[in-house]
Amino acid sequence: MAEPLRIALAGLGTVGAGVIRLLDENAALVGARAGRPLQIVAVSARDRAKDRGVDLSRYDWCDDMTAMAARDDVDIVVELVGGSDGPALTLARNTIAQGKGLVTANKAMIAHHGLALAEAAESAGVALKFEAAVAGGIPVVKGLREGAAANAIESVQGILNGTCNFILSTMEDSGADFGDVLAQAQALGYAEADPTFDIEGIDAAHKLAILSAIAFGARLDFAQVHAEGIARVRAADIARAKDLGFVIRLVGSADVEPAPGGGQRLLQRVRPCLVPDGHPLAHVDGPTNAVVAQGNFSGRLLFQGAGAGDGPTASAVVADLIDIARGEAGPAFSVPVGDLAPLEPADAGERTGRNYIRFTVADRPGVLAEITAAMRDAGVSIESLIQQGRQKEGGEVLVAMVVHEGPARTVTEALRLLEGSESLTAPPLVMPILAA
Ligand SMILES: NC(=O)c1ccc[n+]([C@@H]2O[C@H](COP(=O)([O-])OP(=O)(O)OC[C@H]3O[C@@H](n4cnc5c(N)ncnc54)[C@H](OP(=O)(O)O)[C@@H]3O)[C@@H](O)[C@H]2O)c1
Repeated sequence: MAEPLRIALAGLGTVGAGVIRLLDENAALVGARAGRPLQIVAVSARDRAKDRGVDLSRYDWCDDMTAMAARDDVDIVVELVGGSDGPALTLARNTIAQGKGLVTANKAMIAHHGLALAEAAESAGVALKFEAAVAGGIPVVKGLREGAAANAIESVQGILNGTCNFILSTMEDSGADFGDVLAQAQALGYAEADPTFDIEGIDAAHKLAILSAIAFGARLDFAQVHAEGIARVRAADIARAKDLGFVIRLVGSADVEPAPGGGQRLLQRVRPCLVPDGHPLAHVDGPTNAVVAQGNFSGRLLFQGAGAGDGPTASAVVADLIDIARGEAGPAFSVPVGDLAPLEPADAGERTGRNYIRFTVADRPGVLAEITAAMRDAGVSIESLIQQGRQKEGGEVLVAMVVHEGPARTVTEALRLLEGSESLTAPPLVMPILAA
């Protein structure tokens, strides 16, 4: 029998306990596929007394998780604690410095420190793997890094945050407004008590930055990702979009374009978008995640599945462990860190497309004329306009419009012309309309 791969497991929450359950239940097949048993030897979390529904008596308990990497009986560390910095990062650095491989589900840490960790892992000749960090149980890191490795990837689009997708698809089904559905999502465990990272698009931006590095061979630069969240999307927007044949989804999209002086430029954005019925992301509902990648030889690839949860995320973590046990590691981001290209950001203003714009306006004469005049002066051509009837005398009215394809900067200019207008009762909401 081959020697076991001996694992230290830091973090025994949703994912950590899921990994223990998976390794218990699938021990034989995992061992057969890995070519050796995967054996947890030490665990760590904050509260030793907490019942996690799994038998921890088999493992050594470590109060200080950052010291786990130095143990002689540990070959690999699995970090399932979370947080971009703090003890998770200390443990990651310690692990690599000890010449041991690291598996993590921590997208925040990889988005902020992934390059430095990958560089250290390359120098130490150890594996750094993070399949579970992007889209939970979906093998999209592996899919792009290995399955699609022969392609130049032209674009990546994804529904990368299950909480937002649950909220938007529930708003669509129930007609309820954002705040009510968020509370429901929190009660069901689909949203954190502090949902800021999810609803402001930051979590999706972490994942998009990681995918971009792998897909385009770009030096990961989280600061380049433009993120807008879903908190300003109203039930009325969803109803208007539906009338027009669209659903609203929080979509992370990244693509490359030729740079003027040669090379490529990269655009990475997370925004609520109108998705047409024929688009593969239009039917991704509830907490499901999906990624669509366009390869120059493979054509369009669709990866879809559970983006979170103990089972799916544990599945991704253990797949990484199996790769390491088999000796299949390779550079974390497909190519060595030194070969990743520092791509300049593309100019979003020059991108053309159709947009949905919703104004919240005071119910008084002349408002519509003021808006359409700003559109005309900025060179934005209105394709269709929907004005929702007033709800009460003198109350607020929603004016939603779809504008013809044109450069994004013209829409920005129209909104600039309307800045400070007393007719608008809230900042307008612009959502791009994805091409089918
Ligand atoms: N949940 C998902 O579906 C999912 C999906 C993909 C990726 N991820 C990522 O996986 C990681 C873990 O997520 P999770 O949902 O499992 O989180 P979680 O349920 O909150 O579990 C976190 C674990 O880390 C422990 N911990 C926290 N701070 C610690 C500290 N300072 N020292 C020692 N232990 C500490 C906690 O200990 P106690 O239990 O004692 O409090 C807990 O066991 C995160 O990076 C997350 O982004 C999660």
